[in-house]
Amino acid sequence: MASLLVLNGPNLNLLGQRQPEVYGHTTLAEIEETCRQVADELGARVDCVQSNHEGVLIDAIHAARGLHDGIILNAGAYTHTSIALMDAISSAEIPVVEVHLSNIHAREPFRNKSYIASVAVGQICGFGPDSYPLAIRAMLGHLKVLQENQDVA
Ligand code: DQA
Repeated sequence: MASLLVLNGPNLNLLGQRQPEVYGHTTLAEIEETCRQVADELGARVDCVQSNHEGVLIDAIHAARGLHDGIILNAGAYTHTSIALMDAISSAEIPVVEVHLSNIHAREPFRNKSYIASVAVGQICGFGPDSYPLAIRAMLGHLKVLQENQDVA
């Protein structure tokens, strides 16, 4: 059974209250519950972690090695600033799907750049809370292809 880490960064603990006109009314707890349900339906499992601290997020990525098969990552504003998170993903050699509730490419120019994108399998953004279940499906599809390629080799 595939095991995924759903990792959320700064300020995402305030979802539901934070700028609802941008991020909607769904809370992080509700998003995490949906992730658990969707994973369960698809025969996978998820653990969920949120932190407002860059170092804690880096530690969580390192700790995912050997424990999880993939990470669904919304790094919040660290997406646009953190070379350290980018390096953590490269170092951990674990597939990451980047997610955002909002479409970061349709917002302020400083949000158009993602350091995560260059080391992620792919990016899903702009679908509000639905970005997360979409990312889980995308990750499980990616892991299946990896497995099939390994079986052939
Ligand atoms: C976000 C987009 C980021 O630009 C912002 O800093 C966030 C949330 C999103 O999910 O849309 O904190 O990652």
